[in-house]
Amino acid sequence: MARRLSVPPERRSIPIPIGVFDSGVGGLSVLREVRRALPAAELLYVADSGHAPYGERDPAFITDRVLAIAEFFRAHDVAAIVVACNTASAVALPALRAQFTRPVVAIEPAIKPAAQRPRSGVVGVLATSRTVASAGVARLVEAHGHGVRVLLQACPGLVELVESGELSGARAEALVESFVRPLLNEGADTLVLGCTHYPFLRALIERVAGPNVEVIDPAPAVARELVRRLEAGATPDAREGSEGSEGSEGIECFWTSGPLAHARMLIPALWGRAAQVLALPC
Ligand code: DGL
Repeated sequence: MARRLSVPPERRSIPIPIGVFDSGVGGLSVLREVRRALPAAELLYVADSGHAPYGERDPAFITDRVLAIAEFFRAHDVAAIVVACNTASAVALPALRAQFTRPVVAIEPAIKPAAQRPRSGVVGVLATSRTVASAGVARLVEAHGHGVRVLLQACPGLVELVESGELSGARAEALVESFVRPLLNEGADTLVLGCTHYPFLRALIERVAGPNVEVIDPAPAVARELVRRLEAGATPDAREGSEGSEGSEGIECFWTSGPLAHARMLIPALWGRAAQVLALPC
């Protein structure tokens, strides 16, 4: 079957599936940027909520889950996989790239762009314990952290808040405060959202941080990189005639390894519209 691949700037159409996954629902914050960049694409999303948070798991366990999800996507013949999970990227990317030969686009904490901002020179990174401790993040700091102080703040409990749908309220605010305040006290005026669940807590984070702190979410950059990789891989034949018809809308399908009834409430709420949610068979 000829693949119709095209990503013209205004009306992109990729009528082949793109697989996007996270340890849970956090990657929906990346999926929405992918949807913005590719309005007509078919998007498959896996929330591995039954095994979240990855951040407290063993690297071997995370790698096994990532490879199982990649196999699920391969069976659906996806054109590319987006790793919408910083923890999975930090731990399992080489294994994933060794197994899956089509494009793999992975999120990572936006330490590079944050360090390039000529501000106070103190950058705070909010992430899971596993991401904070990872060699991948150490490499990012080593490569891009010259001339700035990069403070890595593990935030246990925030993934669980988002997974339970608790995005506001005194308990959520106190937990966010407990992680953000120490960074502000150290002079951070740039905060990196180093976990894809945290954009769903962005309002709370910004409230604690105040108006003079810039909050950076790398999700739009991930979507741009996906488009670039798909364009680079498209053959001239595939590009031909592949523009989306005016008004055509892409579809999404969601799978979860967590409790189905909960996911069927939470995913549409976070996604902002009706969503078909199925049980993940792996
Ligand atoms: N959204 C995932 C990330 O970006 C959370 C990982 C976890 O479950 O701990 O790291």
